[in-house]
Amino acid sequence: MDTKTIAKAVSGLKGEIQIPGDKSISHRSVMFSALGSTPVHITNFLHAQDCMSTAACMQSLGAKVEFLSDTELIVTGNGLHGLKEPDMIIDAGNSGTTLRLMMGILAPQPFLTTFTGDASLHKRPMGRVIKPLSQMGAKIFGRQQNQKLPITIVPAEGRFQGMTYNSPVASAQVKSAVLLAGMYAEGDTTVVEPFTSRDHTERMLEAFGVHTEKQGTAVTIHPVDEFRAPKEIEVPGDISSAAYWLVAGAIIPGSDLMLRNVGVNPTRTGILDVLKDMGADIEVLNERTSGGEAAADIRVRYSRLQGTRFGAEIMPRLIDEIPVIAVAALFAEGDTVITGAGELRVKETDRLQAITDQFNKLAPGAVEGQEDGLIIHGGRKIEPAAAFSYDDHRIAMSLAILGAAGEGVTIERPECVNISYPAFYQTLEELR
Ligand code: S3P
Repeated sequence: MDTKTIAKAVSGLKGEIQIPGDKSISHRSVMFSALGSTPVHITNFLHAQDCMSTAACMQSLGAKVEFLSDTELIVTGNGLHGLKEPDMIIDAGNSGTTLRLMMGILAPQPFLTTFTGDASLHKRPMGRVIKPLSQMGAKIFGRQQNQKLPITIVPAEGRFQGMTYNSPVASAQVKSAVLLAGMYAEGDTTVVEPFTSRDHTERMLEAFGVHTEKQGTAVTIHPVDEFRAPKEIEVPGDISSAAYWLVAGAIIPGSDLMLRNVGVNPTRTGILDVLKDMGADIEVLNERTSGGEAAADIRVRYSRLQGTRFGAEIMPRLIDEIPVIAVAALFAEGDTVITGAGELRVKETDRLQAITDQFNKLAPGAVEGQEDGLIIHGGRKIEPAAAFSYDDHRIAMSLAILGAAGEGVTIERPECVNISYPAFYQTLEELR
């Protein structure tokens, strides 16, 4: 088995890091540009496996995708109604965002599409998107009673109908899929969520001249005739990638890190609130907006942390950061109690299980898994150990930070960081 050994960071992490492009925004930049009819120049695109799955997907639907460098590309579509039937099965790889958003875009199209993905994506629930799209008129077939990959979409009979969908989960992927299908529907489409999820779709649609209306946790889209592509999209850095350095800087004595160009869209900044609440020394500097999204530089320095408690309400704002927040909790004084995190069971792996089983190898007895959350006892003894990534990028990176802050770790199957942060291990080395 492939392994990677991370040594203890004895004298802290220091330096400046350019945070790679936001994964959620990179996906949307290529998808939406491929629905326009004029070239869009995209910069600071996240050159990682998930976003490359989306780029390949849009190419197979007839869009022109030309890379000028790893992180810079020009995407030219054939208009909102110009997608072509793909010749082959579309492979979403490991990416739930690619699959779920594409289902929303493709369900209203007059051609057949079949999707596949990797082993992880085959286990994940797709009924949450298939169900509302079917209510709008889509014809979608999937394994296990229309719940799982492989999935085939055939042309709908008659027109797509707008509707109001009360989503049982706060999920930007579900919200986005339904809103994107709503662009092609007759009448308005509204998605109501239990709590507001990330709003990158709504913000980027605005840049394409498509207006959505927000009222509380509801978002409404009207049928779209004109889809005007902007000339440029600049992708801000990904706070979910910055999260590893925010935690590393906060818990490794002697650390002082400057994170450059971090996206600070308020629907994504839950980790800043939680770390500050734990007593972290975090400064948000040079706040600015680029392409409808807020960005800033963030300085983080070591400080003593205390345990904390948070739940369902903040969850959509830090959903992908739970594994690394759990690392912070191990180094805090006292207990941290996380509730309302059941969605973590259906991510790239069951992350509540992964955190419980693997973190306890390095911090015996410190993590108690709950049905929908975690209890983490801070300040327990940390030991060197080997731990498994489950091929989940966020588990691998969190283990690396745990090892660097603790007594070292050997990560089994470490290469999955390529899903969202290919330079992660190299950056960690450079900061020592
Ligand atoms: C994403 C939404 C979130 C998040 C995922 C990216 C997106 O998933 O976990 O990494 O780009 O819309 P859910 O919508 O399933 O919560």
